[in-house]
Amino acid sequence: MRDFKSSTIYQIYTKSFQDTTHSGQGDLRGVISRLDYLKELGIDYIWLTPFFKSPQNDNGYDVADYLSVDPMFGTMEDVEELIGEAGRRDMGCMFDMVFNHTSTEHMWFKRAMEGDPEYMDYYIFRDGEPDAPPTNWQSKFGGSAWEYVPHLKKWYLHLFDVTQADLNWDNPRVRRELKEVIRFWKDKGVRGFRFDVVNLISKPEIFGDDSIGDGRGFYTDGPHVHEYLQELTRDTGIDGMVTVGEMSSTSLDNCIRYSRPEDRELSMCFNFHHLKVDYKDGDKWKLMQPDLRELKRLFMEWQEGMQEGGGWNAVFWCNHDQPRAVSRFGDDGKYWKESAKMLATAIHMFRGTPYVFQGEELGMTNAYYDDISQYRDVESINYYKILQDQGSTREEAIHVLQERSRDNGRTPMQWDGSELAGFSDVAPWIGIPRNHTYINVESEQQDEDSILSHYKRLIALRKEYPVIAEGEIEFVDRSHPQILAYRRFDGSSELMAFHNMAGEVIGLTEPFDRTGWRLLVSNYRDEADVKDGTDAADEADITDGGDALGTGNREQEGGSQDSRMITCLRPYESVVYMRDK
Ligand code: GLC
Repeated sequence: MRDFKSSTIYQIYTKSFQDTTHSGQGDLRGVISRLDYLKELGIDYIWLTPFFKSPQNDNGYDVADYLSVDPMFGTMEDVEELIGEAGRRDMGCMFDMVFNHTSTEHMWFKRAMEGDPEYMDYYIFRDGEPDAPPTNWQSKFGGSAWEYVPHLKKWYLHLFDVTQADLNWDNPRVRRELKEVIRFWKDKGVRGFRFDVVNLISKPEIFGDDSIGDGRGFYTDGPHVHEYLQELTRDTGIDGMVTVGEMSSTSLDNCIRYSRPEDRELSMCFNFHHLKVDYKDGDKWKLMQPDLRELKRLFMEWQEGMQEGGGWNAVFWCNHDQPRAVSRFGDDGKYWKESAKMLATAIHMFRGTPYVFQGEELGMTNAYYDDISQYRDVESINYYKILQDQGSTREEAIHVLQERSRDNGRTPMQWDGSELAGFSDVAPWIGIPRNHTYINVESEQQDEDSILSHYKRLIALRKEYPVIAEGEIEFVDRSHPQILAYRRFDGSSELMAFHNMAGEVIGLTEPFDRTGWRLLVSNYRDEADVKDGTDAADEADITDGGDALGTGNREQEGGSQDSRMITCLRPYESVVYMRDK
């Protein structure tokens, strides 16, 4: 199977991918039925969100049994068939290990609740009075991170929902149990793992009140986290596999350690700093326009910093916890197609392994639900209330959810333009955005200029050119506020990528001379031009001012030295040039 540096990984939110049982919810057989689609897209590994037995209070991230399949998704035979069918197509399956916490329905927690000391030590219980939680830490889903159990006269820690109790990794038995889980799935033929919020597993020795924050300073990248990850990897023999850790509020230094090969922890890390640049005062529930300067600063810091430290980034815009990138950082109206392609190109040319979240390759947008009854996510429902308690009107609270709810990324995959988008034949568990009539696989497959076709091209380029997969990166025009520009290079070739992150024509600080370079990919040309790299006329529509600035018809001018110069980029324009050294 392909090495992770030249691979592209596709995330499947199983519940919303493909229903085959007329339940309105996606299932494992649905994934099997769509493997050919993923193969055609060029996918190497598929990360499936948890399908294990679960009460589904957090859509499967509340696992009640790590070794069995929730009947809503199918059976163990389905999982085995999925692994086999993916393997036959040379694709590996990555499963999602939620090891920071279990569901309170897990047998271990039930035993703990019976007062069995052995199992109480699997979790984090603290003595206390019913009205005084051990610390002031806040749950990531709102409210206190502690829950009081009257009959035990103790509190237990839950950094997420009250039904997601944090495990005590300091207990060697817990670590042993979790290693068994890995071995079980490894024996089934899984080729990789994603570890949920894995940098939160090591809690501090002393639990204190957080005077400046919600408590995360105490348990993020905790004291034994590296040691525990090394142990897990070593004892289960997964260091040859593709592994990725989801790192919450982490630091660059820690991510270098998590992912540099010599430490044998993980292949790569997700970090989320770049997805907070539209949080006003760092608060997810306060809206503002993305701060592009900050976005660019973070990309430079993480791309170059991980390179210097020998670490490896997972690069991504979307997942099941995020609003849709095109609605957030692009323009899902006028420049829908251009901006979706620009966002894709910007990260697919990065150093790191790109992740595509289902529907992102179509340019799927936020759902814009306008009534709370349409929302399903526990966090969204909690915050709808919290925002109103804090003084927002209902309309304001809904507006915030329309921008920020995790449900935006969880709407059914848009396979075709029919009433239920080809996802199901009964009403789905969550509503389908109206725009599925034109944003869907069927229509985009027939269109060479579609967002889907663009993703295919980007994924193929990474496999074709080692410089994309493994070359070094260096940013140029570093202080430009809207243009993200960088150079990738290795011993034999060199690539220049320019991305206009803004919805207007923007000039480069220094013109780029294309002489000697060939166009590799762009979002304002048709494919034929890109393939043979000719300077054919550019037919994309050009906004007023484009020509005046020497952008629009620059291809037609031909001949003179000046026409070889790129001086500015059209709205959301993305161009990537390449040359041999
Ligand atoms: C991760 C998951 C998210 C889940 C949380 C708790 O952030 O991606 O969906 O709610 O962990 O498991």
